[in-house]
Order: sequence, then structure tokens, then C-alpha cells
Amino acid sequence: MKVDNFRLQLGNKEYVPIVIGGMGVNISTTELALAAEKLGGIGHISDAEVCYVCDQLFSSTYVTRKRKKYSYNTGNPDKSTVYFDLEEIAEAQKRYVEHTVSQKSGNGAIFLNCMEKLTMRSSSDTLRTRLSAAMDAGIDGLTLAAGLNLRTLDLIKDHPRFHDVNLGIIISSMRALSIFMKRAVKLQRLPDYIIVEGPLAGGHLGFGPEEWQTYDLKTITAEVTAFLKQEGFDIPVIAAGGIFTGGDAVEFLRSGASAVQVATRFTIAKESGLPFDVKQQYLDADREDIVVNTVSPTGYPMRMLKQSPALKYKIVPNCEALGYLLDNNGACGYIDAYYEALESKEQGRPLSITGQTCLCTAMARYDCWTCGETTWRLKDTTNRLGDGSWQLPTAGDIFRDYQFSEDQRIQKPGIVEKVGS
Ligand SMILES: Cc1cc2nc3c(=O)[nH]c(=O)nc-3n(C[C@H](O)[C@H](O)[C@H](O)COP(=O)(O)O)c2cc1C
Repeated sequence: MKVDNFRLQLGNKEYVPIVIGGMGVNISTTELALAAEKLGGIGHISDAEVCYVCDQLFSSTYVTRKRKKYSYNTGNPDKSTVYFDLEEIAEAQKRYVEHTVSQKSGNGAIFLNCMEKLTMRSSSDTLRTRLSAAMDAGIDGLTLAAGLNLRTLDLIKDHPRFHDVNLGIIISSMRALSIFMKRAVKLQRLPDYIIVEGPLAGGHLGFGPEEWQTYDLKTITAEVTAFLKQEGFDIPVIAAGGIFTGGDAVEFLRSGASAVQVATRFTIAKESGLPFDVKQQYLDADREDIVVNTVSPTGYPMRMLKQSPALKYKIVPNCEALGYLLDNNGACGYIDAYYEALESKEQGRPLSITGQTCLCTAMARYDCWTCGETTWRLKDTTNRLGDGSWQLPTAGDIFRDYQFSEDQRIQKPGIVEKVGS
């Protein structure tokens, strides 16, 4: 039995039941998402720091202009005057989504991962703008991630595509799901798919650093499937977190999941946005290098490599230029940590900031090496080359391995002796 024996049905369309999860900031690139779409699966792009991402891709100047506009405030711990321009967010979002969906060439779909915890100084306005612009630009689906909020559906309920776009949620517990479903029933807009993300996933987690080991994806997926059945909801469930082989995926598909969402295997794909050297760090990682900590100002635990440069950051908060994590009062945990450290710093001693990092800057610079728990196994998925570096598989190699491999076998890519490839 292999993944290819199954199909995911969403509306009247059928997909290969492999979804590449969203990985911000621009780790799940346009090219990575398109590789899944081309092969009949679903690829996510992420709209985390979309203005910054557009500047990198299209040489626009959103970040420079924002920095200039608020330069008077640099060094001030009070960021309450620093706002995003909603028109610019809409423009950047449309440009990024159009750039991606206009290149579709297969039977799959392109979805957008939208982290609601990116409060962007004015959470409702910026979220409505992001979601609406993505629908305007032709996105096939919206996946509402970290920070899932009951009012999100209300924000977009008047959009002409509210009922036609695929709408999904990521949850890690039954509790979050049952609360969301109550609101969805009231609005007569049920989610089209539910991604159950377990404790082994990358990025932000719905489990605490001390408790994640006590949960497992199989149990939560079974609870969610049973709940949906009992309540009479016919909604596909997509399992995510730690699904490393085609064989792992088949186990979930056989026990009631309609698809799997995977990400860690794709972090080292040629098409992933991580720089070559960072991909090599992921491939070199040992089990003890992978930690769950609370340095993210979102308040959610996050999994990352302990070698991440972000863990040594002492930079001045950069919110005038970025500021994606500013809450509705213009606050962010890193600003507090930075200025507290500055106040208690003794003369002649280096600044010491513990417990928080400037995540906006760290993710933009690929200095926060967030990863799934299975990252240490990536070395089993590819070849060591003559010069000691690891070969980077293509996204197609990895996708097809998930789709066609049986049991716990992993098909490594054919060896290409080319450094930097
Ligand atoms: C490098 C990396 C970055 C991620 N970033 C995000 C993100 O921005 N938003 C999100 O909802 N999930 C994020 N995730 C979670 C994935 O989308 C996915 O659900 C999960 O990692 C799947 O488990 P796996 O990595 O074990 O395959 C990220 C995962 C990784 C590995």
C-alpha cells in the first residue's frame, strides 16, 4: 500500500493526498509550492512578512519606506505610533499570490498559510486585508494557522469568494476545534479541511516545551475524526507533524486521515528558501540539537536548532522596518526583554538578553532555524557528496518518495556531484 492508492477530495476536485505545509518566512517558496501543485498535490506559500518578501523577490521598497517613515521612533521602546499601510499590505499580498498562482501548471492547488499571530500592530484590519487580497489574487485555499481566532471568519464573510475558496484551519487539540466549530456553524461556513498538527511539527507549536512529549498525533487525529463523525460533520482531516516516510503517511491515511501535511523533509529541497549553508546545518543536525523553547514573542513555543544565530541576538528592536509581531498596543515581548536588559546592564559587561528573540528580523534573515523533530533523520534521505556536503534533493524527488515508496523505505535522489546544487 502506498500514498498513491489514496486521493484527497476537496469540493469537486481530487488531489494526491500530500500537502506541503506553509513555512514562513519564505522557506516554502513559490517554487516549492508549485512543485507540489505540478504533481497533483497541494503546496502552501506563507504570507508571513509579505512586504519584506516582496522586496526580496521583486525589488519593491516597502520595508525601506516604512523604516524611513518611522525613523524618528527608532530607539523608542514605545512603538504605538508604528502602523502598516493597509493598501501596501494588499498590494504586496496580491503581487506575491498572483506571482505564484499564475505559474500553476498541474492539477494540484496553491494554498496560503496565514499565521494569525502576526498581529501587525492592528490585528483585525491587517488580517482582513491579507485574506481578502489573497482571495482577490486567486488563491485556491486559505489555511488559518497559529493564533486561530473566532472572529476571523467574520472578518471575511462579505468577500465574494467566502464560500468558494477552500478554507482550512490548523488545530492541535480537540478543545480549539470544538470552540471554532461553534462559531463556524453559527456563520454557516464550516471549514473545508482541518489540519491536525501534532507535537513533532516545525515552527510554532500548540504544546508547551515541557508537555509536548506527552501527546501524540495519532491519538489527537483519532479524537478529531471521532468528534467530527459524532457531530455529523463530513470534513477531511489532514494529519501533520513527524510524518517522515510514505509508510508513515499510509498509516494515517488508513486510519481515517484524508491527507498528510509535511514540511521538514522539504526544508532541504533545492526549492526551499533556506540558504544552502543552513540546509547543510539541518542535514548535519543531531537529535540533541533540536529544542523546543519560548523565545518567540508570539507566546507560542517553537522548535528550532539550538545553533540558531537568533538565540544570540542583541539587536535593537527593528519594528520601524518590520514590526510584524507588534500587538494592538504596539508591544512585543522582545522590546521589553531588550530594554530590560539595557537597564540592568553593568558597565563594561556585554548586553545579555535571555528568553526572547527579535523573531521578525531572525526569520527574515534565516537566522532562526526552525525545524521539525525529525530533522536529525534528514541525512537518511539524501547522499553525502565527495566534498563532504550533502546533496540537495529536488522537491519533486521528495514528493514522489512520499507518494510511491512503500513501508519505511526512502528513495534517495540520484547522485549529482555538483557542489552548491
Ligand atoms: C521550517 C519550518 C517552518 C514552518 N513554518 C510554519 C509557519 O510559518 N506556519 C505554520 O502554520 N506552520 C509552519 N510550520 C509547520 C508546517 O507547516 C507543518 O505543519 C509541520 O511542520 C509538518 O510536520 P513535519 O515538519 O514533521 O513534516 C513550519 C515547519 C517547518 C519545518
